[in-house]
Amino acid sequence: MAESLAEAVSRRRTFAIIAHPDAGKTTLTEKLLLFGGAIQLAGEVKAKKDRMQTRSDWMKIERERGISVVTSVMTFEYNDNVFNILDTPGHEDFADDTYRTLTAVDAAVMVIDAAKGIEPRTLKLFEVCRMRDIPIITFINKMDRESRDPFEILDEVEEKLALDTAPITWPVGRSKTFCGSYNIAANTVRGSDTEIEGTPVNGPQSVAGRLPENERQAFVEETELAIEACRPFDRQAFLEGHMTPVFFGSALRNYGVRDLINALGDFAPPPRDQVADTRTVHATDDKMTAFVFKIQANMDPNHRDRIAFARICSGKLERGMKARLARTGKQLGLTAPQFFFASQRQLADTAYAGDVVGIPNHGTLRIGDTLTEGESLVFQGVPNFSPEILRRVRLEDAMKAKKLKEALQQMAEEGVVQLFSPEDGSPAIVGVVGALQLDVLKERLMAEYGLPVSFEMSRFSVCRWISADQPADLDKFLTVKRGDIARDLDGDPVFLAQDGFSLRYESERYPAIKMVAIKEYH
Ligand code: G4P
Repeated sequence: MAESLAEAVSRRRTFAIIAHPDAGKTTLTEKLLLFGGAIQLAGEVKAKKDRMQTRSDWMKIERERGISVVTSVMTFEYNDNVFNILDTPGHEDFADDTYRTLTAVDAAVMVIDAAKGIEPRTLKLFEVCRMRDIPIITFINKMDRESRDPFEILDEVEEKLALDTAPITWPVGRSKTFCGSYNIAANTVRGSDTEIEGTPVNGPQSVAGRLPENERQAFVEETELAIEACRPFDRQAFLEGHMTPVFFGSALRNYGVRDLINALGDFAPPPRDQVADTRTVHATDDKMTAFVFKIQANMDPNHRDRIAFARICSGKLERGMKARLARTGKQLGLTAPQFFFASQRQLADTAYAGDVVGIPNHGTLRIGDTLTEGESLVFQGVPNFSPEILRRVRLEDAMKAKKLKEALQQMAEEGVVQLFSPEDGSPAIVGVVGALQLDVLKERLMAEYGLPVSFEMSRFSVCRWISADQPADLDKFLTVKRGDIARDLDGDPVFLAQDGFSLRYESERYPAIKMVAIKEYH
């Protein structure tokens, strides 16, 4: 019998892994996919990364700096659940991309290096999750190495993140003697992840025998203290973002990953409600709705393709259906939506709320776009951040100005950079959140368009989107300040200021003008 929409939706878990670089996000992703049967051999995620690096020139940056700039989605099934992992770049220079991806998830796994605790990037990403009320499951990784005391790590999470912790498992042993996890609530123990089920036991005492003699007493005392002193897991508090269930393990050595995957199935929420301008959309609503949170071009250098990643918010997407693009009101045929697995893409015949599909297109779709079956609604909340760095692009070969214009437009549509066209007709200005994005732009303009460019300082360093309650106020400001006004990709006006001081000065002089640093696509 065909699965009902409600059943299909309830099986879905769509999440991201947030971590400071090097905490083990790639390794953990690989292991999740491995247990989900999406890949044959662990190592494929990395191996694939390497292959792509050698194939595509701009990704040299990634190799040289040892960071991941490729974001995508990976789908796998485990037990009865369908999991969609949305990958996020770890480096802060790509923060805007990461933030937009986080608008498309229902939960997050926070990976913490057991020796390092909460690191700056973890904290930042956590704050974004909190802003969006995204429930978080914590995975303390690298327990096979010298690590901090587990209580100390839990305290740090509670203090730095103001988040209650509920350890679901407790590590058996430490560094060289680390040999598995004791499940506090279920009273079971699991050695490595090759054991699918945990073994029922009778309290910490009965687990201690797995450890060298001189560690047994300490393990029992510590675990009993954990059982007594730590809070029990409260799913409601977790779903509301006040509490995180905590797991200990080693992604590299296959410990604790099964605990985590089970937790995602058992605790993490099915696809959440999404707020649109006209109403709240429920995942189980009949009609299909979706929004685009990411565009990726030239993923396969052999085919100059462009994929829009769309998160389905409600209903069912069927291949061949027509969707209405809210921004233009035009119809779009979904003839070849795709699913992504670890090493391959596949045509998606049917996808449900919570799923992420790639939609190949030639520039029709943009970040923030809403797709529906005809209803006129627009999802809110996909953010656009005001750039921290503004530059003019200098072209070595002036004859190629038109080509550069096209290329910049495409890069901006993809979200690699933001593009601002000054009202006075002077050359366009590119804006980025992090300097590495400029390196990516330069490399890609060369590799994909044969355009050698360099960047020049612009006389502006700050940019704000502007609006006013009274159109006349805005018109006046646009006229008086014409030399400092530009339009973004959507034609929305921005005010460009020389520095923070002049920005404050002008905003005090023109109180009717609202100046904002974050624009939500609409
Ligand atoms: P990231 O995506 O968060 O940046 O981290 P990644 O998985 O690439 O892991 C960073 C390094 O930490 C890797 O070592 C990886 O092998 C190691 N690692 C990940 N999980 C564990 C763990 O549970 N225990 C131990 N001991 N190490 C772990 P590398 O030497 O930088 O890379 P590689 O050459 O081994 O691939």
